Amino acid sequence: MIIKKKKYNVVVVGATGAVGRTMVSILAERKFPVEKLSLLASSRSAGQKLSFDGREVTVAELGEGSFDGIDIALFSAGASVSRQYAPKAVQAGCVVVDNSSAFRMEKDIPLVVPEVNPHAVRKAPGIIANPNCSTIQMVVALKPIHDRYRIKRVIVSTYQSVSGTGQKGIAELAQQSQDFLSKKTIKNEVYPHQIAFNCLPHIDTFLDNGYTKEEMKMVNETQKIFEDDTLAVSPTTVRVPVFYSHSESLNVETENPINIGELKKLLAQSPGICVVDSPENDEYPLAIHAAGRDEVMVGRIRLDLTHPKAVNFWVVADNLRKGAALNAVQIAELVIS
Ligand code: A2P
Repeated sequence: MIIKKKKYNVVVVGATGAVGRTMVSILAERKFPVEKLSLLASSRSAGQKLSFDGREVTVAELGEGSFDGIDIALFSAGASVSRQYAPKAVQAGCVVVDNSSAFRMEKDIPLVVPEVNPHAVRKAPGIIANPNCSTIQMVVALKPIHDRYRIKRVIVSTYQSVSGTGQKGIAELAQQSQDFLSKKTIKNEVYPHQIAFNCLPHIDTFLDNGYTKEEMKMVNETQKIFEDDTLAVSPTTVRVPVFYSHSESLNVETENPINIGELKKLLAQSPGICVVDSPENDEYPLAIHAAGRDEVMVGRIRLDLTHPKAVNFWVVADNLRKGAALNAVQIAELVIS
Protein backbone atom coordinates (compact mmCIF):
# COMPACT_ATOMS: atom_id res chain seq x y z
CA MET A 1 0.00 0.00 0.00
CA ILE A 2 1.06 3.57 -0.56
CA ILE A 3 1.61 5.04 2.90
CA LYS A 4 -1.56 6.86 3.94
CA LYS A 5 -0.85 10.56 4.52
CA LYS A 6 -2.79 13.76 4.89
CA LYS A 7 -0.93 15.23 1.91
CA TYR A 8 1.29 13.79 -0.80
CA ASN A 9 4.37 14.89 -2.71
CA VAL A 10 3.33 14.88 -6.35
CA VAL A 11 5.32 15.33 -9.54
CA VAL A 12 4.03 16.05 -13.06
CA VAL A 13 6.43 14.89 -15.78
CA GLY A 14 5.77 16.79 -19.01
CA ALA A 15 4.23 19.67 -17.06
CA THR A 16 4.65 22.20 -19.89
CA GLY A 17 2.73 20.09 -22.42
CA ALA A 18 -0.96 20.28 -23.33
CA VAL A 19 -1.89 17.37 -21.03
CA GLY A 20 0.67 18.25 -18.32
CA ARG A 21 -0.70 21.78 -17.92
CA THR A 22 -4.22 20.35 -17.66
CA MET A 23 -3.01 17.89 -14.98
CA VAL A 24 -1.65 20.80 -12.94
CA SER A 25 -4.91 22.74 -13.11
CA ILE A 26 -7.05 19.66 -12.38
CA LEU A 27 -4.97 18.80 -9.28
CA ALA A 28 -5.83 22.28 -7.96
CA GLU A 29 -9.48 22.25 -9.10
CA ARG A 30 -10.18 18.92 -7.41
CA LYS A 31 -8.21 19.90 -4.30
CA PHE A 32 -5.97 16.87 -4.54
CA PRO A 33 -4.12 16.73 -1.20
CA VAL A 34 -0.76 18.03 -2.45
CA GLU A 35 2.03 18.69 0.07
CA LYS A 36 4.60 19.68 -2.56
CA LEU A 37 4.15 19.80 -6.34
CA SER A 38 7.20 19.39 -8.58
CA LEU A 39 6.95 20.20 -12.27
CA LEU A 40 9.34 18.51 -14.67
CA ALA A 41 10.00 18.86 -18.40
CA SER A 42 12.99 18.86 -20.74
CA SER A 43 15.98 21.22 -20.44
CA ARG A 44 14.17 23.48 -22.96
CA SER A 45 11.62 24.48 -20.30
CA ALA A 46 13.74 24.41 -17.13
CA GLY A 47 13.27 27.69 -15.23
CA GLN A 48 9.85 28.41 -16.74
CA LYS A 49 7.19 29.26 -14.16
CA LEU A 50 3.69 27.74 -14.10
CA SER A 51 0.95 28.61 -11.68
CA PHE A 52 -0.57 26.03 -9.36
CA ASP A 53 -3.37 26.87 -6.95
CA GLY A 54 -2.50 30.56 -6.91
CA ARG A 55 1.27 30.17 -6.53
CA GLU A 56 4.14 29.94 -8.99
CA VAL A 57 6.12 26.74 -9.38
CA THR A 58 9.40 26.66 -11.33
CA VAL A 59 9.78 23.88 -13.89
CA ALA A 60 12.87 21.70 -13.41
CA GLU A 61 14.64 19.40 -15.84
CA LEU A 62 13.72 15.72 -15.50
CA GLY A 63 16.72 13.73 -14.27
CA GLU A 64 17.95 10.79 -12.22
CA GLY A 65 17.13 12.21 -8.77
CA SER A 66 13.74 13.68 -9.73
CA PHE A 67 11.69 11.14 -7.76
CA ASP A 68 13.40 11.14 -4.36
CA GLY A 69 10.77 11.77 -1.67
CA ILE A 70 7.88 11.73 -4.21
CA ASP A 71 4.72 9.69 -3.55
CA ILE A 72 2.80 10.05 -6.83
CA ALA A 73 4.18 10.75 -10.31
CA LEU A 74 1.88 11.70 -13.19
CA PHE A 75 3.70 11.15 -16.51
CA SER A 76 2.73 12.76 -19.81
CA ALA A 77 5.92 13.32 -21.75
CA GLY A 78 5.65 10.57 -24.36
CA ALA A 79 6.36 6.84 -24.36
CA SER A 80 10.15 7.00 -24.54
CA VAL A 81 10.40 9.27 -21.48
CA SER A 82 8.00 6.95 -19.63
CA ARG A 83 10.01 3.86 -20.60
CA GLN A 84 13.20 5.45 -19.34
CA TYR A 85 11.97 7.15 -16.16
CA ALA A 86 8.78 5.43 -14.90
CA PRO A 87 10.72 2.37 -13.61
CA LYS A 88 13.15 4.72 -11.83
CA ALA A 89 10.19 6.49 -10.19
CA VAL A 90 8.79 3.15 -9.02
CA GLN A 91 12.20 2.20 -7.63
CA ALA A 92 12.17 5.43 -5.65
CA GLY A 93 8.82 4.33 -4.11
CA CYS A 94 6.31 6.21 -6.31
CA VAL A 95 2.98 5.18 -7.70
CA VAL A 96 3.23 6.22 -11.36
CA VAL A 97 0.14 7.10 -13.40
CA ASP A 98 1.39 6.99 -16.97
CA ASN A 99 -0.50 8.71 -19.77
CA SER A 100 1.70 7.28 -22.54
CA SER A 101 1.22 4.07 -24.50
CA ALA A 102 4.46 2.58 -23.09
CA PHE A 103 2.98 0.09 -20.60
CA ARG A 104 -0.75 -0.06 -21.39
CA MET A 105 -0.81 -3.57 -22.81
CA GLU A 106 1.67 -5.13 -20.35
CA LYS A 107 -0.02 -7.98 -18.54
CA ASP A 108 0.81 -6.92 -15.00
CA ILE A 109 0.11 -3.21 -15.48
CA PRO A 110 -3.44 -2.08 -14.70
CA LEU A 111 -5.18 0.00 -17.37
CA VAL A 112 -7.83 1.99 -15.56
CA VAL A 113 -10.87 4.15 -16.21
CA PRO A 114 -12.35 4.83 -12.75
CA GLU A 115 -15.99 4.69 -13.94
CA VAL A 116 -15.37 1.29 -15.57
CA ASN A 117 -12.76 -0.82 -13.74
CA PRO A 118 -11.74 0.92 -10.49
CA HIS A 119 -11.05 -2.50 -8.95
CA ALA A 120 -7.99 -2.85 -11.20
CA VAL A 121 -6.13 0.03 -9.56
CA ARG A 122 -2.81 -0.70 -7.89
CA LYS A 123 -2.33 0.67 -4.39
CA ALA A 124 1.34 -0.23 -3.97
CA PRO A 125 4.28 1.51 -5.69
CA GLY A 126 4.14 0.55 -9.34
CA ILE A 127 2.82 1.77 -12.68
CA ILE A 128 -0.84 2.29 -13.57
CA ALA A 129 -1.53 3.07 -17.21
CA ASN A 130 -3.98 5.74 -18.36
CA PRO A 131 -5.74 4.57 -21.56
CA ASN A 132 -5.72 6.35 -24.90
CA CYS A 133 -8.03 9.39 -25.09
CA SER A 134 -10.36 7.93 -27.72
CA THR A 135 -10.68 4.68 -25.73
CA ILE A 136 -11.49 6.42 -22.42
CA GLN A 137 -14.53 8.36 -23.61
CA MET A 138 -15.83 5.35 -25.54
CA VAL A 139 -15.61 2.89 -22.63
CA VAL A 140 -17.29 5.33 -20.20
CA ALA A 141 -20.30 5.34 -22.57
CA LEU A 142 -20.14 1.57 -23.22
CA LYS A 143 -19.94 0.48 -19.58
CA PRO A 144 -23.67 0.80 -18.66
CA ILE A 145 -24.66 -0.73 -22.01
CA HIS A 146 -22.34 -3.70 -21.53
CA ASP A 147 -23.57 -4.28 -17.97
CA ARG A 148 -27.25 -4.22 -19.00
CA TYR A 149 -27.34 -5.67 -22.54
CA ARG A 150 -23.90 -7.37 -23.10
CA ILE A 151 -22.06 -5.81 -26.02
CA LYS A 152 -21.00 -8.08 -28.88
CA ARG A 153 -19.55 -5.60 -31.35
CA VAL A 154 -18.78 -1.89 -31.64
CA ILE A 155 -18.23 -0.02 -34.91
CA VAL A 156 -16.64 3.34 -34.13
CA SER A 157 -15.45 6.30 -36.21
CA THR A 158 -13.61 9.08 -34.42
CA TYR A 159 -13.31 12.80 -35.14
CA GLN A 160 -10.25 13.70 -33.07
CA SER A 161 -9.00 17.19 -32.25
CA VAL A 162 -5.45 18.39 -32.83
CA SER A 163 -4.74 18.90 -29.11
CA GLY A 164 -4.42 15.10 -29.01
CA THR A 165 -1.09 15.66 -30.76
CA GLY A 166 0.00 18.12 -28.04
CA GLN A 167 0.93 21.81 -28.25
CA LYS A 168 2.50 21.32 -31.67
CA GLY A 169 -0.77 20.06 -33.16
CA ILE A 170 -2.64 23.09 -31.80
CA ALA A 171 0.02 25.43 -33.23
CA GLU A 172 -0.05 23.76 -36.66
CA LEU A 173 -3.84 24.05 -37.05
CA ALA A 174 -3.78 27.72 -35.93
CA GLN A 175 -0.94 28.62 -38.30
CA GLN A 176 -2.37 26.74 -41.29
CA SER A 177 -5.82 28.28 -40.76
CA GLN A 178 -4.32 31.79 -40.76
CA ASP A 179 -2.17 31.04 -43.80
CA PHE A 180 -5.07 29.47 -45.70
CA LEU A 181 -7.37 32.44 -45.09
CA SER A 182 -4.67 34.93 -46.05
CA LYS A 183 -3.86 32.88 -49.18
CA LYS A 184 -0.29 32.11 -48.05
CA THR A 185 1.58 28.87 -48.73
CA ILE A 186 0.64 26.17 -46.24
CA LYS A 187 3.40 24.23 -44.49
CA ASN A 188 2.81 20.94 -42.72
CA GLU A 189 5.33 19.64 -40.20
CA VAL A 190 3.30 17.75 -37.61
CA TYR A 191 0.77 15.97 -39.86
CA PRO A 192 1.51 14.29 -43.21
CA HIS A 193 -1.02 16.58 -44.95
CA GLN A 194 -2.71 19.93 -44.39
CA ILE A 195 -5.03 19.62 -41.35
CA ALA A 196 -6.75 23.03 -41.67
CA PHE A 197 -10.08 22.63 -43.54
CA ASN A 198 -9.34 18.92 -44.03
CA CYS A 199 -9.87 15.49 -42.40
CA LEU A 200 -7.06 12.93 -42.13
CA PRO A 201 -8.02 9.24 -41.80
CA HIS A 202 -4.61 8.63 -40.27
CA ILE A 203 -3.68 8.87 -36.56
CA ASP A 204 -0.35 7.38 -35.45
CA THR A 205 1.48 4.95 -37.74
CA PHE A 206 0.03 2.31 -40.07
CA LEU A 207 0.46 -1.37 -39.18
CA ASP A 208 0.72 -4.42 -41.46
CA ASN A 209 -3.00 -5.20 -40.96
CA GLY A 210 -4.01 -1.90 -42.61
CA TYR A 211 -5.13 -0.30 -39.33
CA THR A 212 -3.31 2.49 -37.52
CA LYS A 213 -1.79 2.11 -34.05
CA GLU A 214 -4.47 4.48 -32.74
CA GLU A 215 -7.18 2.17 -34.11
CA MET A 216 -5.60 -0.94 -32.60
CA LYS A 217 -5.28 0.88 -29.24
CA MET A 218 -9.08 1.24 -29.26
CA VAL A 219 -9.47 -2.51 -29.95
CA ASN A 220 -6.91 -3.86 -27.47
CA GLU A 221 -7.39 -1.37 -24.65
CA THR A 222 -11.19 -1.79 -24.68
CA GLN A 223 -10.84 -5.58 -24.34
CA LYS A 224 -8.31 -5.19 -21.52
CA ILE A 225 -10.42 -2.67 -19.58
CA PHE A 226 -13.59 -4.83 -19.86
CA GLU A 227 -11.54 -8.01 -19.25
CA ASP A 228 -13.28 -9.52 -22.28
CA ASP A 229 -11.32 -10.67 -25.37
CA THR A 230 -14.55 -11.42 -27.23
CA LEU A 231 -15.78 -7.80 -27.26
CA ALA A 232 -15.25 -6.87 -30.92
CA VAL A 233 -14.26 -3.30 -31.84
CA SER A 234 -14.05 -2.13 -35.47
CA PRO A 235 -12.48 1.37 -35.52
CA THR A 236 -11.64 4.14 -37.99
CA THR A 237 -9.79 7.07 -36.41
CA VAL A 238 -9.78 10.47 -38.09
CA ARG A 239 -8.00 13.74 -37.22
CA VAL A 240 -10.23 16.76 -37.81
CA PRO A 241 -9.54 20.52 -37.70
CA VAL A 242 -10.93 21.03 -34.19
CA PHE A 243 -8.76 22.34 -31.34
CA TYR A 244 -10.27 20.61 -28.29
CA SER A 245 -12.54 17.55 -27.70
CA HIS A 246 -12.83 14.30 -29.58
CA SER A 247 -16.17 13.21 -31.09
CA GLU A 248 -17.09 9.60 -31.87
CA SER A 249 -19.89 7.95 -33.83
CA LEU A 250 -20.72 4.52 -32.40
CA ASN A 251 -22.80 1.60 -33.60
CA VAL A 252 -23.17 -0.94 -30.79
CA GLU A 253 -24.58 -4.44 -31.25
CA THR A 254 -25.73 -6.27 -28.13
CA GLU A 255 -26.71 -9.80 -27.12
CA ASN A 256 -29.96 -8.67 -25.50
CA PRO A 257 -32.58 -6.43 -27.13
CA ILE A 258 -32.37 -2.73 -26.25
CA ASN A 259 -35.25 -0.63 -24.96
CA ILE A 260 -34.34 2.85 -26.15
CA GLY A 261 -36.17 4.71 -23.35
CA GLU A 262 -34.54 2.53 -20.73
CA LEU A 263 -31.12 2.98 -22.39
CA LYS A 264 -31.41 6.77 -22.33
CA LYS A 265 -32.30 6.69 -18.61
CA LEU A 266 -29.49 4.24 -17.90
CA LEU A 267 -26.92 6.47 -19.63
CA ALA A 268 -28.23 9.60 -17.86
CA GLN A 269 -27.83 7.92 -14.45
CA SER A 270 -24.34 6.55 -15.10
CA PRO A 271 -21.27 8.15 -13.50
CA GLY A 272 -19.26 10.49 -15.69
CA ILE A 273 -21.94 10.75 -18.42
CA CYS A 274 -24.08 13.72 -19.39
CA VAL A 275 -26.86 12.94 -21.88
CA VAL A 276 -27.56 15.82 -24.29
CA ASP A 277 -30.22 14.51 -26.62
CA SER A 278 -32.97 16.91 -27.73
CA PRO A 279 -32.62 16.84 -31.51
CA GLU A 280 -35.97 18.68 -31.80
CA ASN A 281 -34.20 21.67 -30.18
CA ASP A 282 -30.95 21.13 -32.13
CA GLU A 283 -29.33 19.88 -28.92
CA TYR A 284 -26.69 17.18 -29.09
CA PRO A 285 -23.08 16.91 -27.84
CA LEU A 286 -20.66 19.32 -29.49
CA ALA A 287 -16.88 19.55 -29.26
CA ILE A 288 -17.06 23.25 -28.37
CA HIS A 289 -19.44 22.51 -25.50
CA ALA A 290 -17.47 19.54 -24.14
CA ALA A 291 -14.18 21.50 -24.06
CA GLY A 292 -13.36 22.42 -20.46
CA ARG A 293 -15.97 20.02 -19.05
CA ASP A 294 -15.40 16.78 -17.17
CA GLU A 295 -18.30 14.63 -18.37
CA VAL A 296 -18.49 12.38 -21.40
CA MET A 297 -21.42 13.78 -23.37
CA VAL A 298 -23.74 11.35 -25.16
CA GLY A 299 -26.53 12.11 -27.63
CA ARG A 300 -28.21 11.22 -30.95
CA ILE A 301 -29.23 7.98 -29.21
CA ARG A 302 -31.35 5.93 -31.64
CA LEU A 303 -32.02 2.33 -32.56
CA ASP A 304 -30.24 0.95 -35.63
CA LEU A 305 -32.99 0.59 -38.24
CA THR A 306 -31.03 -2.16 -40.02
CA HIS A 307 -30.40 -4.45 -37.04
CA PRO A 308 -32.77 -5.73 -34.31
CA LYS A 309 -30.22 -5.51 -31.49
CA ALA A 310 -28.09 -2.46 -32.20
CA VAL A 311 -28.05 1.21 -31.34
CA ASN A 312 -26.32 4.31 -32.74
CA PHE A 313 -25.09 7.28 -30.72
CA TRP A 314 -22.60 10.18 -30.62
CA VAL A 315 -20.03 10.60 -27.84
CA VAL A 316 -17.98 13.76 -27.18
CA ALA A 317 -15.44 14.53 -24.45
CA ASP A 318 -12.57 16.91 -23.73
CA ASN A 319 -9.58 14.80 -24.75
CA LEU A 320 -7.17 16.75 -22.52
CA ARG A 321 -9.42 16.36 -19.47
CA LYS A 322 -11.41 13.07 -19.34
CA GLY A 323 -9.30 11.68 -22.20
CA ALA A 324 -6.05 12.26 -20.31
CA ALA A 325 -5.42 14.56 -17.32
CA LEU A 326 -8.70 14.15 -15.44
CA ASN A 327 -8.66 10.37 -15.79
CA ALA A 328 -5.06 10.32 -14.49
CA VAL A 329 -5.95 12.47 -11.45
CA GLN A 330 -9.04 10.30 -10.79
CA ILE A 331 -6.72 7.25 -10.79
CA ALA A 332 -4.45 9.02 -8.29
CA GLU A 333 -7.54 9.73 -6.13
CA LEU A 334 -8.36 5.99 -6.18
CA VAL A 335 -4.78 5.18 -5.17
CA ILE A 336 -5.00 7.33 -2.02
CA SER A 337 -8.64 6.53 -1.21
P1 A2P B 1 9.23 20.59 -23.12
O1 A2P B 1 8.12 21.60 -23.10
O2 A2P B 1 10.41 21.02 -22.29
O3 A2P B 1 9.60 20.13 -24.49
P2 A2P B 1 3.16 18.03 -25.74
O4 A2P B 1 2.63 16.63 -25.83
O5 A2P B 1 2.10 19.04 -25.51
O6 A2P B 1 4.07 18.36 -26.87
O7 A2P B 1 4.09 18.06 -24.40
C1 A2P B 1 5.12 17.15 -24.19
C2 A2P B 1 5.68 17.34 -22.78
O8 A2P B 1 6.73 16.39 -22.58
C3 A2P B 1 6.32 18.70 -22.58
O9 A2P B 1 6.18 19.10 -21.24
C4 A2P B 1 7.78 18.42 -22.89
O10 A2P B 1 8.68 19.30 -22.30
C5 A2P B 1 7.92 17.05 -22.24
N1 A2P B 1 9.09 16.33 -22.76
C6 A2P B 1 9.33 15.96 -24.03
N2 A2P B 1 10.51 15.32 -24.13
C7 A2P B 1 11.04 15.30 -22.87
C8 A2P B 1 12.23 14.78 -22.30
N3 A2P B 1 13.14 14.15 -23.03
N4 A2P B 1 12.42 14.93 -20.96
C9 A2P B 1 11.49 15.57 -20.21
N5 A2P B 1 10.34 16.08 -20.69
C10 A2P B 1 10.11 15.94 -22.01
